[in-house]
Amino acid sequence: MTTESTLVLIKPDGVNRGLIGDVISRLESTGLKISGLKLIQIDNELAGKHYQEHKEKPFFGSLIEFITSSPVVAIVISGPDAIKKTRTTMGVTNPLESEPGTIRGDFGLTVEKNIIHGSANIDDAKREISLYFNDDEIINYPRSIDNWIE
Ligand code: RTP
Ligand code: MG
Repeated sequence: MTTESTLVLIKPDGVNRGLIGDVISRLESTGLKISGLKLIQIDNELAGKHYQEHKEKPFFGSLIEFITSSPVVAIVISGPDAIKKTRTTMGVTNPLESEPGTIRGDFGLTVEKNIIHGSANIDDAKREISLYFNDDEIINYPRSIDNWIE
């Protein structure tokens, strides 16, 4: 068990479909903790940095257009194995293959508009958190329930 932090984005489809509350509720219910939270409009430069690994992919242009099309909610989520637990709660990339009970499985239909982003590994998480949050926007606070979770 490693205590770690991950970056979550509720993508433009999730924001516009009124799913912010549902998505946050599912993430909170796991016991993981919200350490940073904001609504932001991603510009082309930030989108390019975030998705740099996909630059050569055929869907890159469409992905950048989508992720910059409307605001997103950016969240830092922390706790035991936060990266893996968040990815499990999200479901796999294609909502058609995501299990019912996962966020993408319950709310998504197509591979691009799949509601949520979560960092894939520890290096990506560190890089992505620093793209969206300054150090003073991440708050490390104890909760009385932490003893029941960790
Ligand atoms: P994410 O980075 O957003 O958490 O999603 P992921 O790891 O599950 O998927 P990834 O392979 O990193 O793809 C990033 C995002 O690009 C869009 N996508 N479109 N049209 C396509 O074939 C395609 N494939 C991926 C999705 O929005 C995916 O989440
Ligand atoms: Mg990814």
